[in-house]
Amino acid sequence: YRDLRVALLGCGSVGAQVARLILEHGDELAARAGARLSLAGIAVRNLDSPRDVELPQELFTVDAERLVQSADIVIELMGGIEPAKTLILQALRGGADVVTANKALIAAHGPELAEAAEQVGAQLSYEAAVAAAIPILRPLRESLAGDHITRVLGIVNGSTNYILDRMDRFGDSSEDAMRLASELGYLEADPTLDVEGYDAAQKATILASIAFHTEVPVDAVYREGISNITAAQIEAAKHAGYVIKLLAIAERLTSADGTDGVSARVYPALISRDHPLAVVYGGKNAVFVEAESAGELMFYGAGAGGAETASAVLGDLVSAARRHVVGGPGIPGSLHAGLPILPVTEVTTAY
Ligand code: HSE
Repeated sequence: YRDLRVALLGCGSVGAQVARLILEHGDELAARAGARLSLAGIAVRNLDSPRDVELPQELFTVDAERLVQSADIVIELMGGIEPAKTLILQALRGGADVVTANKALIAAHGPELAEAAEQVGAQLSYEAAVAAAIPILRPLRESLAGDHITRVLGIVNGSTNYILDRMDRFGDSSEDAMRLASELGYLEADPTLDVEGYDAAQKATILASIAFHTEVPVDAVYREGISNITAAQIEAAKHAGYVIKLLAIAERLTSADGTDGVSARVYPALISRDHPLAVVYGGKNAVFVEAESAGELMFYGAGAGGAETASAVLGDLVSAARRHVVGGPGIPGSLHAGLPILPVTEVTTAY
C-alpha cells in the first residue's frame, strides 16, 4: 500500500478516539482505503493535558502549522473558528484533503472553505458536524442527488432532546433535566448554545445548504430555543396527542409572491405522537427527510459522544484516502448561492 500521512488537530474526546481507531484498525483501514493511513502527529495546545485514551507521547506536538504542511489528510477536531479556519485553509491550499467535525466553523465559513477545496481539487468533508454518528450529509448530497428534497426535519441537538424528553416522560423539572444532561456530558461548554438553539441553528444551516445545494447563512436561520418551555405546556401537548421537540427544519417553499426558495428554522415544535420523530428519546438524534421520489426517510442514532463522532470522522477519512489513491478532484462540496432564502413569516408548529 501507499502511505498517506494523516495529521490530527485536537485531542479531546473525539480526537482521542479517532487516534485510537487509526492506530488500532490500521490494517482494516488500509484495506478499505487502498492506502496505509499513518498518523503523522497530533497537534494539541497543551502537551500535559490528560487524554481519554493512552497514546504514544511522541505523536504529540504543539506545532500545528508544521504538522499540517507535511500531511496528505488533515483531521481538524479543535473546534472554534480560529486557529481551525486558518489551519484548514493552509491544508487545502497545500493540496491536502480535510476532514472536520467543526459545526460552528462550517456553519459560519462553509462556502469559503468549500471553494478553497474546489480550487485545488481537494476534498473537504464534515459528516461528523451534524448529528455525529448518523450518516446524513453524504446521503443528502450523494445518495439523494437525483431526487428533489422537499423538507428536512431534524432533532439535531441531543441535550435539548434529552431535557424535553425527561420533562415529557419522567415529569422532571427543567432544572433537574438540565443537570442530568450536564452530568451526561451532552451540553456544550456554554450551555446557552444548546438551550437557545444556536447549536441546532448551525446544524440547520449545514443541512439546508446541502439538501438544497445552496448557501444558507447561519444568521438567516430563524431560531427559538427551549428556555421558555414549561412543564404545563409539555403536559398540554401530551393531552392533545403531541410531544414537544426542538426541530431544525429546512424546507423548500414558495412564498406568497411566487418566489421559490428555502426556509431554515429552529424552534420547539409539536410532533404528533404517531410521527417517527416522536419516539426519538433521550439524547438521541434523528433526521427525517421528505423527497419527491424517495418519499419519507429517517436517519436515527447518536448525535454526540467521542467514539460515535469518531465513526463519522473515520468514514470521511477513508473516503479522502480513496480519492488520493484513485486521483481526481474531491466530491464537489461548493455551496453557491442558489435558491433564495425566504424570511420566516409564519411558524408552523405542528408536524
Ligand atoms: N451539545 C451538542 C448536543 C453536542 O447536545 O447535541 C453534539 O453536537
